[in-house]
Amino acid sequence: MKDFLTVADYSSESLQEMLDSAVQLKDEWKSGGNSPIFKNKVLAMIFQKPSLRTRVSFDMAMRHFGGDALYLSPAEIGLGKRESIADVARVLSGYVDAIMARVFDHAHVEELAEWASIPVINGLSDYNHPCQALADALTIYEEYKDMKGLNVTYVGDGNNVAVSLMHICAKLGSNFTIGNPVGYDMPAEAIEIGKKFAAESGSKITLLNDAAEAVNDADVIYTDTWTSMGKEEETKKRQQVFPPFQVNDALVADAKDNVIVMHCLPAHRGEEITDPVADGPHSRLFPQAHNRLHAQKAILVKLVG
Ligand code: CP
Ligand code: NVA
Repeated sequence: MKDFLTVADYSSESLQEMLDSAVQLKDEWKSGGNSPIFKNKVLAMIFQKPSLRTRVSFDMAMRHFGGDALYLSPAEIGLGKRESIADVARVLSGYVDAIMARVFDHAHVEELAEWASIPVINGLSDYNHPCQALADALTIYEEYKDMKGLNVTYVGDGNNVAVSLMHICAKLGSNFTIGNPVGYDMPAEAIEIGKKFAAESGSKITLLNDAAEAVNDADVIYTDTWTSMGKEEETKKRQQVFPPFQVNDALVADAKDNVIVMHCLPAHRGEEITDPVADGPHSRLFPQAHNRLHAQKAILVKLVG
């Protein structure tokens, strides 16, 4: 596999190997640093949308391996506007060793991968966020030492983050439940793929429209913004629909006593998550954000190493 565009493209075994690699790279980094295996290697990072975690964790991952990263802003590249995606892919393939791209339309990262002769990593598209999912799995894995049989509940919008989380849970044997408002489902095609993976791993996917019912028996509660990047014109409408899906103390009390709460960030405190939950004892928000660094390293080693 040349690229990392979706969790769905990888077998359960490969994903577990990447998780093990992330754990090992994290240990190595903690006890003195990673080996400079990417000396003289450069990652080009194309961004059509803003980013803190994805941008900085990929850049730092490359530096920790002795390599470098280039940030290419929306204005600089004009992906598919100033220049065709196929041309950008072929030009960059002559300069750098891998491309990470954050795009609006998932088809655009697929097109980049099709034309690039170097690995392409999806740093978030409207369809999914596979790098996030690997860091999420790492965080859950560290907490529970195994993903099999856990109950992972996502509360909120059936968006890109929900899709990748569902797919990685189904691949690694966790039961995945979503509680989302009516009309804000994950794409039907993504659900079908998830159900197939769940059947293979012996796990379950449950689709609900009630937050309290969804978190019942949850080991993990996960939430994300009500309004993803690119959907800003729907913000007002969503602010009226989503409040029953807020992750607050009352909702957390409906789950298992030792439930952990996760959020890919950036958080909209007071909307999808309250301050007491985000900063409380169940929260794993910042270890999860930190794990982006180690998950990106495992992805880079797999594709570029
Ligand atoms: N979670 C995440 O991808 O954060 P950024 O948008 O800041 O990269
Ligand atoms: N669902 C969010 C994730 C941000 C990291 C978005 O796409 O804006």
